[in-house]
Amino acid sequence: MLRIEVATAADAGELWTVQRAAYVSEAIVYDAARIPPLTETLEELTARVRYALILKAIAGHRLVGTVSGRIEDGTCHVGRLAVVPDMQGRGIGTRLLTDLEARVPGVTRFELFTGWASAANVRLYNKLGYVEFDRRPDPIGVPLVYLEKRQTSYSGRPDTGS
Ligand SMILES: CC(C)(COP(=O)(O)OP(=O)(O)OC[C@H]1O[C@@H](n2cnc3c(N)ncnc32)[C@H](O)[C@@H]1OP(=O)(O)O)[C@@H](O)C(=O)NCCC(=O)NCCS
Repeated sequence: MLRIEVATAADAGELWTVQRAAYVSEAIVYDAARIPPLTETLEELTARVRYALILKAIAGHRLVGTVSGRIEDGTCHVGRLAVVPDMQGRGIGTRLLTDLEARVPGVTRFELFTGWASAANVRLYNKLGYVEFDRRPDPIGVPLVYLEKRQTSYSGRPDTGS
């Protein structure tokens, strides 16, 4: 049984551990150890819990995934989607993202980014209705693709486009 709940500052240590474990694979793909999800300190993550909506996925007693959303000018900036390496590919990332979308009523646009070379990530986002709108490298040179999803009306469920 998987539960998706809002994280609090008390979860910061586990969120940080999950984030670090999950993003090692991205660091390997881009040969870049200093990507932000790996350089973010525990203190920075604890501060983020206070100003962003951070969800956690719980399986039994274990925190197995997380996602973060920050709303600015009607857009929800989605980031730090992460699932523990041994539980990837089981629908947890999809649950986290669709749950986040459903928890921010009134938001009509969602935006996120991932690496150009992270084809599986792009496939996941495309499947959930995100479309590319920009490509540019980040400050340390990792090539990023930016994707967005627009909702015409809020129905409590993500827009499937059908
Ligand atoms: C990306 C991530 C959050 C997806 O979560 P997940 O629970 O593995 O994904 P789901 O099971 O809900 O969905 C599976 C889809 O995700 C994509 N995917 C991305 N990475 C994957 C992985 N390591 N294993 C399996 N599927 C992955 C695939 O498109 C897959 O669809 P497919 O079966 O049609 O190929 C997770 O794999 C992860 O933490 N990766 C490392 C960190 C990262 O890259 N985060 C996103 C940065 S933008």
